[in-house]
Amino acid sequence: MRPLGAFSVDDPARLAVLISGRGSNMTALVAAENVAYRVVAVVSDAADADGLRRAAEMDVPTHALPASDREAALHDVLSGADVDLVAMAGFMRVLSPAFLARWPDRVLNIHPSLLPAFRGLDTHRRALEAGVLAHGCTAHLARPAIDDGPILGQALTAVRPGDDPAALGARVLALEHKLYPRAASAYASGSVRLEGGRVRGAPCLLSEL
Ligand code: GRF
Repeated sequence: MRPLGAFSVDDPARLAVLISGRGSNMTALVAAENVAYRVVAVVSDAADADGLRRAAEMDVPTHALPASDREAALHDVLSGADVDLVAMAGFMRVLSPAFLARWPDRVLNIHPSLLPAFRGLDTHRRALEAGVLAHGCTAHLARPAIDDGPILGQALTAVRPGDDPAALGARVLALEHKLYPRAASAYASGSVRLEGGRVRGAPCLLSEL
C-alpha cells in the first residue's frame, strides 16, 4: 500500500468498491473522470447483486464473497488486487474493528444523510418526520461504529414542500453520485487529509440549497 495523499490523476490510487445491491454509487465511481483513483475491483457479499453485472459490463474485475470467513476473503481480494483505498457503496455489512485496523484510514463510506444526523437505515423518511429543512449525504472514513467517522465531504439539498421519501431520496442519490467520486479523489490526492485525527484541507461541500 502506498501512502495516502500520494496519488494523482496520472498516478491514481487503486480503489476497490464494496457493494451489496444495485451499485449506482459504484457506477458513478467507475465512470468519474479526472479523478486520482482507478477502480480495480468491485466486491459484493451477494453473488446476485445487480451491481456485479454492471461492473462486469464496465470491464471492472468482480468478486463475490463467501458466506463464511467473509472478512478473511475480503482481505485476500483487496491484498491480491494491490488495493490502496476501499469505498463502501451500499455495502450492507459492518466491518469489524480488526478488519478496519488492517486497513487503517483506508476505508470510505457514503451515507444518505447529513451525519451525524440519521445514522442507520430509512434516512429520508426519518428526515422528513423530523422536519429538517436541509438533508443530503456524507462521504466519510469508516470507523467501527456504524455511519461514524471523519467527514470528507457533504452534499446538501433543501427539503421541498410535498417531498416524500422517494422524491427526496432521488435527489440525495443524485448528489451521492457527484459527491463520492470527488471526496474519494480528494482523499486519494491529499487535498483532503487526516491529521491528528482531524480532517484538514478542503472538504468537499456541494449544495443545492
Ligand atoms: C446509497 O444510498 C448509499 O448511500 C447507501 O446505500 C445506497 C446504495 O445505493 N449506503 P447504490 O447501491 O449505490 O445504488
